[in-house]
Amino acid sequence: MKKTDSVKLTKLAECAGCGAKVGAGELAKLLGDLPVRRDENLLVGFDKSDDAAVYKVSGDLAIVQTLDFFPPIVDDPYAFGAIAAANALSDIYAMGGEPKTALNIMAVPEDMPKEHVHAILEGGYAKVAEAGAVICGGHSIYDREPKYGLSVTGFVHPDRILTNAGARPGDVLIYTKRVGIGVLTAGWKAEMLSEESKKSMQEQMMLLNKAARDIMIRFRVHACTDVTGFGMLGHLLEMAEGSGTRISIETGQIDFIPEAAELAKMGVLPAGMYRNRHFAEEEVDPGDAPVWMQDLLYDPQTSGGLMMAADPGDADALLSELLKDPQVQSAQRIGTVEEYTGGKRIRLY
Ligand code: CO
Ligand code: CO
Ligand code: CO
Repeated sequence: MKKTDSVKLTKLAECAGCGAKVGAGELAKLLGDLPVRRDENLLVGFDKSDDAAVYKVSGDLAIVQTLDFFPPIVDDPYAFGAIAAANALSDIYAMGGEPKTALNIMAVPEDMPKEHVHAILEGGYAKVAEAGAVICGGHSIYDREPKYGLSVTGFVHPDRILTNAGARPGDVLIYTKRVGIGVLTAGWKAEMLSEESKKSMQEQMMLLNKAARDIMIRFRVHACTDVTGFGMLGHLLEMAEGSGTRISIETGQIDFIPEAAELAKMGVLPAGMYRNRHFAEEEVDPGDAPVWMQDLLYDPQTSGGLMMAADPGDADALLSELLKDPQVQSAQRIGTVEEYTGGKRIRLY
């Protein structure tokens, strides 16, 4: 890492990390008219707005496939590679799956020093190894703006797939990382972030959702998604709509990053927050939640945590297992799934 200390990768990026994601509403328009071919073994396809596709191979095996990549969200090439990989692997975990193979997808400026390119890949390889999977190839092109990510294939039992659509009234919602990464990114770009916060922000994004997933699959969890580019409320809206339910969020239980809260109060916000708010706002009853708190709930979370809809009979045990594991950053019981009887899909209180 020594040689790459002085690079400022984020200066090469127009839009950082998951904040560069095409907005949920826009994406639906872009994909709208495409002809969809049916295949009875395709258990989860892109029409379901889930984290990854799932294809059944046999009675006890399905493959989970996903692809994620984005421009630099941090300056250090190694950390950027590790974050992009952790973020891509997360969609396999969000489906309850186990990552097996991965392919690199990379774009680099022609004049980027070789050791920086190497460091990005090293970060990616380290995370894939930690996940217990292997990188088996990839594709790279020249581009003015660097980009890196992975296409990941994982395994899951066809009867144990966790989609967005499985949440049931009575389920308890549990979330596993702190909230406010997108706002910290905006603070970093504005040079308002302490070195200490930069470091802990990087560590949070590099943290795999592996431990949280490994614990989750031992309990009755009906639905799961990872919170990434669309923000907590965007991803919860997909869950509420996908499962035909309503969701109530107890904002006092959410683990907001204190420095992100300070920045949000000052109006330091990433562009993706506005896109996410625009997409989901109509379906959200904000109650008395202050605007800065709402902003953090719409904030894009690059490499965010897992959002689990747990059976009420298992929620306490799941929560205490998550809290005990040092590899799980946070475990918050943030709300409940309810019967949908019309009106807004999400309520904050
Ligand atoms: Co996802
Ligand atoms: Co994704
Ligand atoms: Co899922």
